[in-house]
Amino acid sequence: ARLVVLVSGSGTNLQALLDAVHDDPDGFGAEIVAVGADRDGIAGLDRARSAGLPTFVRKVKDYATREEWDRALAEATAAYEPDLVVSAGFMKIVGKTFLDRFGGRFVNTHPALLPSFPGAHGVRDALAYGAKVTGCTVHFVDDGVDTGPIIAQSAVDVRDEDDEAALHERIKEIERQLLVDVVGRLARNGYRIEGRKVVIP
Ligand code: GRF
Repeated sequence: ARLVVLVSGSGTNLQALLDAVHDDPDGFGAEIVAVGADRDGIAGLDRARSAGLPTFVRKVKDYATREEWDRALAEATAAYEPDLVVSAGFMKIVGKTFLDRFGGRFVNTHPALLPSFPGAHGVRDALAYGAKVTGCTVHFVDDGVDTGPIIAQSAVDVRDEDDEAALHERIKEIERQLLVDVVGRLARNGYRIEGRKVVIP
């Protein structure tokens, strides 16, 4: 399967996918064909370039409307003919054009146990709430924010001494493993989305 991965930051989830493909190019069942971002100057793009991958950047501020940005992102992504698009720390909400094109084959990873703590600060929100257990969720993207059908989740204990950074790092250790496992299974086995249920044979 052909993957396009979208990033906005350090790209450690991207790196986990790159390593999985590199360690088992035939067995993993997917290859990353391009990496896209909504901004320049991030480690995620450096990781892609180090791996010899093509990259593209589409910044919201370069377009007159959000819809034009969304269309540009969809077209840049479509140019690589992906089977699956993976949001790995991509911090923009895509719109109708992107979802019309890639809905049902667009996966996101979120650092909380959805439906708890959706949005851009899931780790901070769980900590502030006093949650004792949080974790990460890999799900298909729908037209809501972090509301699409859940594929897999992993739990992570919250420690009394945790601050946001420490908790997020501990979550990301687990999140990277979950994302690699899920993307590999989707790519190798195929899948069906039945309402809110995701079936991977
Ligand atoms: C991940 O925890 C992701 O779930 C969240 O931001 C983090 C991105 O980390 N949206 P990285 O860029 O993959 O290192």
